[in-house]
Amino acid sequence: MTGISPVSAPQTPIKPDQTACLFGPVLILNSVENERLSLSALFLSLKSESDPNAPAPIETPDGSFSPSPIAEYSQHILWRACFPLPADRASYYQWNGTRYDITSDFGRGFGRDFNGDLRIAYVSCNGEEHGDLDRAGPERNKMWARLCKDHQKAPFSLILHGGDQVYADEVTDGHPLSQDWPEKLPRDPSQADQATLRQHLREGFLQRYLAIYRAPEFAWIAARVPSMMQWDDHDICDGWGSLRRSRTYSPTGQILFQVAHEAALLFQHGCGTKKLSDRFSDPDGGHLGWKVELPGLRILAPDLRSERTRREIMGELGWQMMEAEAAKPSPGRTLLMSSVPLLGPRLSLLEMAMVLTPRMQKYEDDLRDQWQSRAHRGSWKRMLGLVKQIAAPKDQQITALSGEIHLATRGEMTLERGELLHQLVASGIAHRAPPRAWAKILGTLAALGESPLPGHPIRIRRIPGQIWRYAAERNYLVLHRRANEWSANWEFERSGTSPDLKL
Ligand SMILES: [Fe+2]
Repeated sequence: MTGISPVSAPQTPIKPDQTACLFGPVLILNSVENERLSLSALFLSLKSESDPNAPAPIETPDGSFSPSPIAEYSQHILWRACFPLPADRASYYQWNGTRYDITSDFGRGFGRDFNGDLRIAYVSCNGEEHGDLDRAGPERNKMWARLCKDHQKAPFSLILHGGDQVYADEVTDGHPLSQDWPEKLPRDPSQADQATLRQHLREGFLQRYLAIYRAPEFAWIAARVPSMMQWDDHDICDGWGSLRRSRTYSPTGQILFQVAHEAALLFQHGCGTKKLSDRFSDPDGGHLGWKVELPGLRILAPDLRSERTRREIMGELGWQMMEAEAAKPSPGRTLLMSSVPLLGPRLSLLEMAMVLTPRMQKYEDDLRDQWQSRAHRGSWKRMLGLVKQIAAPKDQQITALSGEIHLATRGEMTLERGELLHQLVASGIAHRAPPRAWAKILGTLAALGESPLPGHPIRIRRIPGQIWRYAAERNYLVLHRRANEWSANWEFERSGTSPDLKL
């Protein structure tokens, strides 16, 4: 850890009934209505025959808010306390004797033309495919510790999590129906085996979220800064949606998706599975696209996983949400979260080479997961067209935020009036970078440039202060709004804070 102790000593001793809390409070921003934030605080406790082990209530100047159970596991209960805080000034809450200050001043521009200064963190890829739970905490969570320290210097108002909040790849281990997922699957599993698989996966997902949410660095910041999350493939399994239909639509594949979906609603969004919070476009959860509107700022997070197939990145519901948002006036900045990078190098040559080489088929599936895949050319152009539409009014700007590639980079697409769409890629906060040679190959490919929309060339650029187009270090991104001007910095594990990039 880098010099700070991320977990402050509680101001009063922990009460005995709280010792059973395995994590919490983890703050999730549900929605913003009438200049108030609607927040969920999540807690996990052990089940007990004699005592429900209910976590202590959240106390705010508006009252006391007791947690209620929202999910039950074989030995655990997940609890949620919903409570409001003002959205136009700093505030706080207290829990179990500790006061937590919240930088909830999003400006006084609700209905007016003034926006306050703001800092938002963007993180992605919080884990690794293999052995993530066995990694040494201080090494694994080094960049989370940096984020805690950063918050102490200048507080964040929000943390956006851009995908792969957990790496669930290993949850399929240890059950006969999913042991060899996705290579080999039993043809006609019995109902009884499917029921035990569901149970096995539920407990597996719980253990992943538990390990991640109770890590001291994550726990410290998650209690002080509300989170908003957008899932990606590893929150389900590697390559979900880009796998062959025989895998996706098998009984095992469908149970895996249903359990991952339930876990994401509970742990990433603080929603029970019956009713999603108001920020979601589809209250039934057919896709998990959402948006929030703050003074001079809209955060837009389409769901690129729920409806994905090998031919489509989003289904009709996802596109309907994006088209409705693009048509709606939204003065100020739109942050478009695209879990996989919206701007990237031309991949079609690489894909063609991989299709022709059977051993490379796994990598072909990986490339198919990208907007830039030749299979998704139409979808990519459709989304870029919507981005252009959002940026068309003079008082609207848009910036794309992505993770996924375990490298940091940035891209630009020219818009009208000489304006630019900036694509900022930050990844991963815990996933270690691939070899530098891979970063250089990608950088070489990126030099070719790409123009899916005629007259709007895309270029991959160096992050200020970096030598290569793709930076092979762990990192996260910080977005600032100062006097209505937006800028971004990457925080790198070795090279530190990048110089300001004006957006
Ligand atoms: Fe990832």
